[in-house]
Amino acid sequence: MQLRRLTLATALAGGTAIFATFALAAGDAQRGALIAKRWCASCHVVAPDQTSASADAPSFSDIARRRTDKKKLGHFLMDPHPPMPDMHLSRKEIDDIVSYIRSLDPRPQPPAEPDGKDKDLPKNG
Ligand code: HEC
Repeated sequence: MQLRRLTLATALAGGTAIFATFALAAGDAQRGALIAKRWCASCHVVAPDQTSASADAPSFSDIARRRTDKKKLGHFLMDPHPPMPDMHLSRKEIDDIVSYIRSLDPRPQPPAEPDGKDKDLPKNG
């Protein structure tokens, strides 16, 4: 009985550690979603549950379908052109938002970029 309790405690502790690691790894897109809801949602539809935004700004899922290159998307956000305002985002915020936007693309993702940056990502997910 005592052994079982110990095992359970170990399993719980282990589970927490795994969860913490997962939350960190997946945190970028989640942070991006928060930033998008706070700073972009007044003009863009940034999430499927958002119902209204400016008619001039494309929805983030539309952007995800058209802009498949993370680098180019990041470059646009570093130096956006009118009518899209310059939001003065940090490098980290841009990375988070780019991950979030790319996560909205329902299609299978293209193979990893030649620079190998994405080589640790699972191939089918
Ligand atoms: C004041 C309104 C406004 C806000 C706020 C805004 N945008 Fe935009 N954004 C626009 C408009 C309008 C366009 C369309 C520009 C065009 O058609 O050339 C645009 C275009 C874009 C594009 C390019 C879309 C394409 O067609 O390829 C991206 C990416 C983008 N916005 C991301 C963001 C992000 C990320 C944020 C928040 C950090 C944000 N925008 C906040 C108005 C806004």
